[in-house]
Amino acid sequence: MRCLVTGCAGFIGSTLTDRLLALGNEVTGYDNFSTGQREFLSGALDNARFTLVEGDLLDPDRVEAALDGAEFVFHLAANADVRFGTEHPTKDLHQNTIATVNVLEAMRKNGVRRIAFSSTGSVYGEARVIPTPENASSPVQTSLYGASKMAAEGFIEAYCEGFDMQAFIFRFVSILGERYTHGHVFDFYKQLRAHPGVLNVLGNGKQRKSYLYIQDCIDAIFTAIEKGQAKVNLFNLGLDEYCEVNDSIGWICDELGVKPELNYSGGDRGWIGDNPFIFLDCSAVRVLGWRPKLNIREGVLRTVRYLQQRPELLDRR
Ligand SMILES: NC(=O)c1ccc[n+]([C@@H]2O[C@H](COP(=O)([O-])OP(=O)(O)OC[C@H]3O[C@@H](n4cnc5c(N)ncnc54)[C@H](O)[C@@H]3O)[C@@H](O)[C@H]2O)c1
Repeated sequence: MRCLVTGCAGFIGSTLTDRLLALGNEVTGYDNFSTGQREFLSGALDNARFTLVEGDLLDPDRVEAALDGAEFVFHLAANADVRFGTEHPTKDLHQNTIATVNVLEAMRKNGVRRIAFSSTGSVYGEARVIPTPENASSPVQTSLYGASKMAAEGFIEAYCEGFDMQAFIFRFVSILGERYTHGHVFDFYKQLRAHPGVLNVLGNGKQRKSYLYIQDCIDAIFTAIEKGQAKVNLFNLGLDEYCEVNDSIGWICDELGVKPELNYSGGDRGWIGDNPFIFLDCSAVRVLGWRPKLNIREGVLRTVRYLQQRPELLDRR
């Protein structure tokens, strides 16, 4: 396949790019390096089947040119940080919704018919049904990030209907593992490296979350694309387990051999839009045969060990 991967230098996009190349595909990677890391592409750049386009998705002409000849688009580029949404109220709209429409328009103009999209469990806001199925009724949005991704999903669905495209929409829980550069393990490890005696925790630490290891996430994407037949294929991607933030703190501290004093900011939410209980029903992708290999604790530990080997990443975000 000739694929275009947006966000190819990011945590998930670079891992997906490596997997696509390993499977023999031709890949054009598109990234503006706003949060992407050039070194994550070092393997890809050595591969003759990889082409890098440095560009912004908010530049429609450049996106259109990059899609020339593509058969499949993996659209991962986004502002992936849910936490700071209210500090820049229009960023999610531009980076997540308008950027997605630019990708869809470029696909339409180039006759590219298939897209995989990285959405998020944040679109469920604070779901009333847990574990939350894909068809949970009318979720109320609690973050600008979730709202922007929900809107992007809507545009993708409408383009599928209007222009005979096929979509694979993935609503991820938080992803962990090698090349991880944002999220709670990153924040906690960064703090503990600087001052092992104290850990500041947003909220009361009792938030319940689910996490998925990056390679298991990529496996699930490929299973879904191989087997999904619908015009719009919508999948939650996560594990059939969750943990408390406090559990994760315990695993991280044991791994590092530290016993910090824990300073909680208090309340059952760490920030505006923080969902105190995220647990998705992932039976739809499991029915297709996908099985994750790592549990949450193993994913957290792999992430800590990766960051220990790559401390320079801690200063990049
Ligand atoms: N990491 C998670 O836990 C998680 C969970 C749910 C959903 N997602 C989604 O998965 C996708 C990838 O997330 P990630 O964790 O790899 O994030 P990331 O920040 O590591 O990667 C995003 C990439 O997109 C690029 N990018 C951003 N805006 C761009 C633009 N306008 N034009 C071109 N390139 C641009 C960045 O430079 C970066 O390389 C995102 O869509 C995110 O919303 C991630």
